[in-house]
Amino acid sequence: MLIEMKDVNLVYDVGHDEETYALKNINLNIKENRFYGILGPSGSGKSSLLYLLSGLRKPSSGEVIYKGKAYKDIRGKEMAQIRNKQFGFIFQRHFLMNYLTALENVLVPLNSNKKEDIDKAKELLIKLGLEREINKRPAKMSGGQRQRVAIARALINDPEIIFADEITASLDHKNAFEVMKVLEGFKGKAAILVVTHDESILSGAEEIIRVWDGSIKSVEESRVNAL
Ligand SMILES: Nc1ncnc2c1ncn2[C@@H]1O[C@H](COP(=O)(O)OP(=O)(O)OP(=O)(O)O)[C@@H](O)[C@H]1O
Ligand SMILES: [Mg+2]
Repeated sequence: MLIEMKDVNLVYDVGHDEETYALKNINLNIKENRFYGILGPSGSGKSSLLYLLSGLRKPSSGEVIYKGKAYKDIRGKEMAQIRNKQFGFIFQRHFLMNYLTALENVLVPLNSNKKEDIDKAKELLIKLGLEREINKRPAKMSGGQRQRVAIARALINDPEIIFADEITASLDHKNAFEVMKVLEGFKGKAAILVVTHDESILSGAEEIIRVWDGSIKSVEESRVNAL
């Protein structure tokens, strides 16, 4: 198993007046190289689930186990390596570097100036519809274009797990579709976890995890694929 969650609870603001039980008693298995859609209403705990699965947040109780080892037992340096080399994060806030061009931003994780890496980064940007933005800085781009640069940056390392949180929310239908097609290109090569409100972008997903009020309501094989 790639990631296992065992009896996981997440409480925000412990000890304050308003404690929030964001996730309650979660047991979940994430398999290698599988494409998951994570669906649920606003506030149901989808982002929290992604933070825990990626080790960005610690559970209040229970364990999250990555390749047989609990995150809490993975040291800082090793964790940083895993994040850099094995994980691709795409969050709604993109955190691009303002003084770098689109191309330079995408190359940051590789820390390389090799021609083959530059070509790979360009190719990815072109696939994401950003041919004309390659040498632009974020300030000169639209929100959706910045989001796509962030997506390219998350994918340049050929991650083993892609964590994507509402990545199509700021895109029109056509661009959302293109982005999902790029993600689907990683099918069978990476585990893909896509959080969204919009079920229509999940036609490529193999399993749908439904989150409701901090609990997992169901995990089902995607019907689209079953047809
Ligand atoms: N940093 C935080 N501090 C306190 N409570 C939080 C924090 N982040 C989230 N919560 C609460 O935890 C619950 C789950 O939030 P979460 O962000 O995981 O939901 P979500 O399903 O991603 O929602 P959305 O679709 O709106 O992004 C909500 O009740 C939310 O108010
Ligand atoms: Mg969220």
